[in-house]
Amino acid sequence: MTESKPLVVRSVAAMRREVARWKAAGETVGVVPTMGALHAGHLSLVRSAIAGCDRVIVTIFVNPTQFAANEDLDSYPRGEAADLAKLAELGADLAFCPNPDEMYPDGFATSVKVEGLTEVMCGAGRPHHFGGVATVVSKLFIQSQADRAYFGEKDFQQCLVVTRMARDLDIPIEVVPVETVRAADGLAMSSRNVYLSDAHRTIAPVIYKTIRDVAASVREGQAPAAAAAHGVEALKAAGIERVEYLDVRDAETLAEEWPEGRAARVFIAVHLGETRLIDNVAV
Ligand code: PAJ
Repeated sequence: MTESKPLVVRSVAAMRREVARWKAAGETVGVVPTMGALHAGHLSLVRSAIAGCDRVIVTIFVNPTQFAANEDLDSYPRGEAADLAKLAELGADLAFCPNPDEMYPDGFATSVKVEGLTEVMCGAGRPHHFGGVATVVSKLFIQSQADRAYFGEKDFQQCLVVTRMARDLDIPIEVVPVETVRAADGLAMSSRNVYLSDAHRTIAPVIYKTIRDVAASVREGQAPAAAAAHGVEALKAAGIERVEYLDVRDAETLAEEWPEGRAARVFIAVHLGETRLIDNVAV
């Protein structure tokens, strides 16, 4: 317990050396993929991993291939020293912080595409996004050789995509979903919340309130489309004009209709100024 944690490594080879030692000792390994700027949501994943595995790797890599040219790759919040201090406090074993060249060396030519699940919601608005996510996450799974990977339900569609990817590619890893962590007023924690102006931060909790109301209406028997339309009106009345989507969908397939007795979820993406925020809740 006195060794200095986390061990920071920047190469796949160095990470694999550590993992090989752990596995030789019969220890289980959990991985928590992140893009850094760690907040309470990320830290809850790390805590779950520490509770569920003998050894925990946190990866910190702002993955360029999941950002479109017009998106916030350059301005995405970064702060490695602060991130490492938080991981030290929790006791994560290893931080994998590769440079872009380590992940995408010259001549890199392979990508992973998960069909269907990636074509709706966030995939419709950001057509290259999930290709970049599936590619980098499959690399992280293969590089880390972890037994379990922890993902936040805040990005519910991402959870489904990486679960399907691992299953389809026979990567022997269990994807563990972790509940969304929220601020006291209900806003889902996000690295992008720091972009919000004070005025927008004051409005933002209406996002969670609205999707909870939509979920309650659907539970009480209202048609999903009508409940969602009401939700959009409520958001407009509160000052959120740009609703990218507000959908009620099957929680497994993301289809707009689902068989009796199957779980459904309410999913939302809105724009507040330049900031895009997403959230979801169970019906
Ligand atoms: P990032 O946005 O940094 O998120 C890393 C992980 O933290 C994801 O699994 C995300 O769902 C989870 N997370 C974010 N906010 C959360 C919250 N409020 N409560 C619980 N979990 C939360 O998602 C990515 O990075 C990237 O796409 C990545 C998977 C790392 C691939 O590049």
